[in-house]
Amino acid sequence: MTFEAPRPPADRQQAPPTWGRAPLLRVLLAQAVGAFFAFLGAFAAAAWFGLTAPLFVVLVTQGVIAARLGERLFRLPRWWIPIQMVMPPAAALLSGFDVPAWIYLAAFVVLALVFWNAAGSRVPLYLSNATTETALATLLPDRPGARFIDLGHGFGATVLTLAKVRPDMIVEGIESAPFPFLVSWIRRLIIGPANARILYGDLWKRGLAPYDMVYVFLSPAPMSAIFEKAKAEMMPGSLLVSNSFAVEGIEPTETRVLDDGRRTKLYLYRF
Ligand SMILES: C[S@@+](CC[C@H](N)C(=O)[O-])C[C@H]1O[C@@H](n2cnc3c(N)ncnc32)[C@H](O)[C@@H]1O
Repeated sequence: MTFEAPRPPADRQQAPPTWGRAPLLRVLLAQAVGAFFAFLGAFAAAAWFGLTAPLFVVLVTQGVIAARLGERLFRLPRWWIPIQMVMPPAAALLSGFDVPAWIYLAAFVVLALVFWNAAGSRVPLYLSNATTETALATLLPDRPGARFIDLGHGFGATVLTLAKVRPDMIVEGIESAPFPFLVSWIRRLIIGPANARILYGDLWKRGLAPYDMVYVFLSPAPMSAIFEKAKAEMMPGSLLVSNSFAVEGIEPTETRVLDDGRRTKLYLYRF
């Protein structure tokens, strides 16, 4: 199946989606409610049965309640579940050690620079493997001068590998998390190749009209908006490839299952 893609005016681009509202606030709310019920339970156990629950147990209970509420009531993605569970006991454990305050700050800054988009865009960082890169190489257009872009290029491996495989193409990636961008930019500077371009910026602001092939490995959350953007901006005959995440309600032109450990699925949408 192919999708009709009208040729858009050069300045026409899709507006960024509005999903992902205040996830950190929802995490805090879930933890607050979890703490309320966990401590209420501990007080009730002490008052009625004379049982004193160890603080660690109360905090684990808080984490479990928060994880459950986060998923069910506050509609947080599932990957918050383990984080929510571990957060309260981990905080208590760390407060028992004499860890200098700057270490917390440094850890926070590094994590924020790496997982820049995880909270707001609901797109965490995980990377395409070598099998996927080989499969992507077979999908690249035959035409010399054709253009490819990886939207959210992470540490740049896919961009640099494909650029090496196809020196006749222009292979680009765009990334908005500062640390992965910087690492990719330095890698490109040191090892090339010259036809690879590492860009810093928001993928939603990047016009897709010049690209023959667009690759995404994001999360389920933005897929409908990505598809709409690609359909509106990409030229007839061009290809959108999504690693692992299909577009809800849209039948892909083709699905490829790769021969790797996780049986990676590539969803192909030809316009
Ligand atoms: C799952 S990783 C994939 C990395 C790489 N494409 C790969 O396949 O190895 C998704 C990447 O998209 C980036 N990202 C998420 N939202 C973005 C946005 N609005 N603009 C640019 N990059 C974004 C994240 O920072 C992350 O590095």
